[in-house]
Formats: sequence, structure tokens, C-alpha cells
Amino acid sequence: MAGAATNHRILLRGRPAGIPTPDLFEADTVPVQAPGPDEVLLETLYLSIDPAMRGWMSEGGSSYHRPVPLGEVMRGGGIARVLESRAPEHNPGDLVQARLGWQSHPTIPARFLQKVDTTRGDALAWIGPLGLSAVTAYFGMRDIGSVRPGERVLVSAAAGGVGQIAAQIGRIEACRVAGIAGGPEKCSFLRNDLRLDAVLDYKAENDLAAAIGRACPDGIDLYFDNVGGETLDAALLHLRPGARVVLCGRISQVNVQKPYGLRNVGQLGAKQARMQGFQVFAYNPRYEEARAWLAARHADGQLRQRLHILEGLHHAPAALGMLFRGENTGKLVVRVGG
Ligand SMILES: NC(=O)c1ccc[n+]([C@@H]2O[C@H](COP(=O)([O-])OP(=O)(O)OC[C@H]3O[C@@H](n4cnc5c(N)ncnc54)[C@H](OP(=O)(O)O)[C@@H]3O)[C@@H](O)[C@H]2O)c1
Repeated sequence: MAGAATNHRILLRGRPAGIPTPDLFEADTVPVQAPGPDEVLLETLYLSIDPAMRGWMSEGGSSYHRPVPLGEVMRGGGIARVLESRAPEHNPGDLVQARLGWQSHPTIPARFLQKVDTTRGDALAWIGPLGLSAVTAYFGMRDIGSVRPGERVLVSAAAGGVGQIAAQIGRIEACRVAGIAGGPEKCSFLRNDLRLDAVLDYKAENDLAAAIGRACPDGIDLYFDNVGGETLDAALLHLRPGARVVLCGRISQVNVQKPYGLRNVGQLGAKQARMQGFQVFAYNPRYEEARAWLAARHADGQLRQRLHILEGLHHAPAALGMLFRGENTGKLVVRVGG
């Protein structure tokens, strides 16, 4: 059957108490399932590793998704190649995007697949600068953040998957962009590769509010927040009148017993500022708009995505914890095949 006899899978075996650990997963192999009518057999090329997976592993699931049942293939999205198709719209060799699960050769109904337009980019581009992290940054910066030329922007977890795209969108929109990241290597990437106007290594600072003040001497019009907690609280102290705070993520609060209580929300009233969260999945009907915008900037060299690629499906169980320890520089991806 199209060269593949075995489907390598990673199953969820336990619920996380803190940062997800590899022992919560188990690898197995099953025979590849031949596609039925309107189904497609795929070879997974790349899997995206996302903080949201921590919620999917938990008993309560996440705001948008039910929990992954124990004993089932771990949920995960990525890019795959069609090996065999019984659906007229998909042909062997086509690239598709789908919720593939952590498995090497899924068989999936065609209605759950989105064709990848390879004129816009290859599989790596579609997991990177055209992928869901980039689409998240697009809607967060432009729709929720209403970014405007010349504004003063601050982005946290700025060297990460979403953050580096958000920061670059700020630059493309002719803003002054400051980025927060953990450690000298990430800060050097932000300063020298992404050419941000100011960079702050939060791990090297005792007084985060003062450090943000130095990185953003004229204050903040738009804060794109990926981390929440203390960093968000400190940023609130530097808002300019009419500022927008985009709550994209709160990764610093995901694994803690007692979430940090914000003290500085009064700044929203004082500065007539707005703080708003969002879920990228709610923008599904507008993904094409985002991808057209991102693809045009990627093609003309204004937008790129540093990827952190782990080779092999067996890395997936340990990969998730890396996000919560800041061990990734760039969008974290597992290469499964291809
Ligand atoms: N709203 C949505 O629809 C949506 C969609 C996708 C992702 N998100 C959110 O966007 C954020 C970024 O996701 P991503 O996939 O791009 O991950 P990422 O930024 O590539 O990786 C996570 C990064 O978060 C930072 N971090 C981890 N623990 C931290 C802590 N305790 N305090 C401060 N920083 C910490 C680390 O960077 P440093 O080394 O720099 O600390 C780490 O590399 C996450 O919060 C995620 O949940 C939201």
C-alpha cells in the first residue's frame, strides 16, 4: 500500500500535573489503515507543537476542545502528503493541512483536510510563516490589536512561534517594536535577525517594570502578550492613552497552582485602554485573508519564521515540555517524514 505498512503512533496515557512529561505518552505501531470511500491515507511530514496541547491533555480540555481521551492518539496539527486517496479532490503527492494526530500515517476523511497551496510555499513554509502560529499573530496584531503605523509595540515571548511573527508584523506596520525573551541567545536573535528596536531579557532582570520602562521609554500603544502573570502586570504600568493589550496567551500561568493576581488593571481605566483576549479558531472563516497577507510578505522577504525542528516522531512527547521551559527558539516543530 503506497510504500507504508506501519503507522507509528503516540498515545496519551496520563494527565499532566505540571509541565507535561514524556512518561504521559506511549508509542505503539499498528498496520496502516487502507482508506475507505472519501478517505485519504497520509504521510505526516511536520507536526506543530503548541502550548494549547497542555490543555487538551487535561481532564477539563481547553476552551475550544474536549480533552484527548486516555489511550487515544495525541491530538496535533501539521502538514502531510497524500499517499493514497479515495476522494476525488485529493491526489497522491498533494500536500494537506489537518489535525493529523501524533502518528506517521493517519487515514482521515477528506472533509477534515485543507489543501496546501504550494505556489505560496512548501511544507516548511506552511508550518512556519503561513502556519497557525503566524495566523494567530496576524489576527492578534491587526484585528484585536488594531496596530497602526508609528505606534510603540511590545511583544512577550517574542522569539517564539507566535511572538516572532507578531513582532515582525509590528515592524512591517512601521512601528517601534520592543521584544521580551528569556536568555541572551534569543535576545540576540531578536536584535540582530529580526532587527527589533529594543530587546529585554526578562531572566536577567530583577525589576521587570523598570526594565520595560527602559525598553519602552515612550510607553506602549500595543502590548501583544503571550505570557501573562507578572510580565503582563508590569507592562500595564507603561500603557499610553488609548493602548490595546492583546491577551494571546498566558504560558507563565498554565502550570502553576496559584495563578498570579494582576495588581495594575486600574491602568486600563486611567489610560482609557482596552485589554482583549481571542482564540484563533474563531477566525477560521478568515484564515485565507491572513494567509494571503502573510504569503505576500513572506514572498517579498519581509516576514520569516525561525523554526526549531526536532527530527522524528519519538521526540514529540518530550517536545511539549520544552515550550514551558523556554527551550525552543522559534516555532517548535517535529519532523516525522518526508
Ligand atoms: N489565542 C490563540 O488563539 C493562540 C494560538 C496559538 C498560541 N497561543 C498562545 O501564544 C503563546 C505562544 O505560543 P507559541 O506556540 O508561539 O509558543 P512559543 O512562544 O514558541 O514557546 C513558548 C515560549 O514561552 C516562553 N515561556 C515559557 N514559560 C514561560 C514563563 N513561565 N514565563 C515567561 N515566558 C515563558 C518561552 O520563551 P522565553 O524563553 O522567551 O521565556 C517559550 O519559548 C502561548 O501562550 C500560546 O498559548 C494563543
